Amino acid sequence: MLYRLIKFFLFLMPPEQAHEFALKSLRTALKLPLIGSWLKSSFRPENSEPVQVGGINFPNPVGLAAGFDKDAKWLHMLKDLGFGFVEVGTVTPKPQDGNPKPRLFRLPSDRALINRMGFNNQGLDAMVQRLKNRPEGLIVGGNIGKNKITPNEEAIQDYILGFEALYDHVDYIAVNISSPNTPGLRDLQEEGFIVGLFEELQKRRATKTAHKPIWIKIAPDFSNAALHGLVETLKKAKVDGIIVSNTTVSREGLSYSDSHISSIGAGGLSGAPVFETSNRALAEVALHVGGEIPLIGVGGIFNAYDANEKFLRGAQLVQVYTGFIYEGPWIVKNIIKDLKSL
Ligand SMILES: Cc1cc2nc3c(=O)[nH]c(=O)nc-3n(C[C@H](O)[C@H](O)[C@H](O)COP(=O)(O)O)c2cc1C
Repeated sequence: MLYRLIKFFLFLMPPEQAHEFALKSLRTALKLPLIGSWLKSSFRPENSEPVQVGGINFPNPVGLAAGFDKDAKWLHMLKDLGFGFVEVGTVTPKPQDGNPKPRLFRLPSDRALINRMGFNNQGLDAMVQRLKNRPEGLIVGGNIGKNKITPNEEAIQDYILGFEALYDHVDYIAVNISSPNTPGLRDLQEEGFIVGLFEELQKRRATKTAHKPIWIKIAPDFSNAALHGLVETLKKAKVDGIIVSNTTVSREGLSYSDSHISSIGAGGLSGAPVFETSNRALAEVALHVGGEIPLIGVGGIFNAYDANEKFLRGAQLVQVYTGFIYEGPWIVKNIIKDLKSL
């Protein structure tokens, strides 16, 4: 109820401005003597059960998907919101501005967003500095990508740089080759690149003292046959986890007029309309993975019912993004509470 009112005012602002304003206000509120501790306890999930995945002990299975905290700026606050884990990034080796604004659009009637952010981020050095002060007890994943100006033939170098810079500062690495907003990035979802990249990353990991999982994040926009082929590649590459999925380039299932949707232009669609698409992809991936590789379900989760649909299809962990924008900061607590009664 309270968030409905807050959301009414936030949704009057342009989305990116609202994002920054909401996070700053919440951070300030959490620091206030009485209100802060009341808020913290109201966000904290009750009786959440830890989940072991890939040797990591997640305090609960509900994480924040990549793209929300692109620069690891909000980790202390996000911990207070009860997330079981937060995936920071996508970070690229060098800072980059991303696409020109406007590049983030709300579709409230469909509980959806369209974004073409284009990996706006402050680069690896800035992220590493912040991660040195990451909060204790929060599981953090580092989602790595390539700079827009790096040609695909040299992309492997960008991922190696991301891996080397973040490895000691995060609990897992997520390789992002599925964003629709960096031209040509999705073309990297092919056997030669994936197997070569993972071989290189695993070779480097073998020289480290701690063994940390390397996950991959895939797009939902594949036929079932193509997903089968992709899973065979991911098995060959020995990935440690598959995040299903990123945003979709499809515009199916939207209630807005075609002219409104085309006036928004290119970008990835997220939220409720990607739920079925990413569920289908998750189920197909699970079928071929056969329990061998942990799966992380993301796409269109707003409540416990949605999260449960991902678990039923084989996910061990879930992540939210758009649902967090629409449902507000009590989303983790509510999902965990309601999962128990399903
Ligand atoms: C504004 C915005 C920015 C995003 N940026 C990234 C990103 O940088 N890297 C990434 O892997 N996914 C990114 N995503 C995709 C989300 O992590 C998630 O996979 C997708 O939105 C589907 O989940 P949802 O329906 O809960 O939002 C972004 C999504 C949104 C809405």
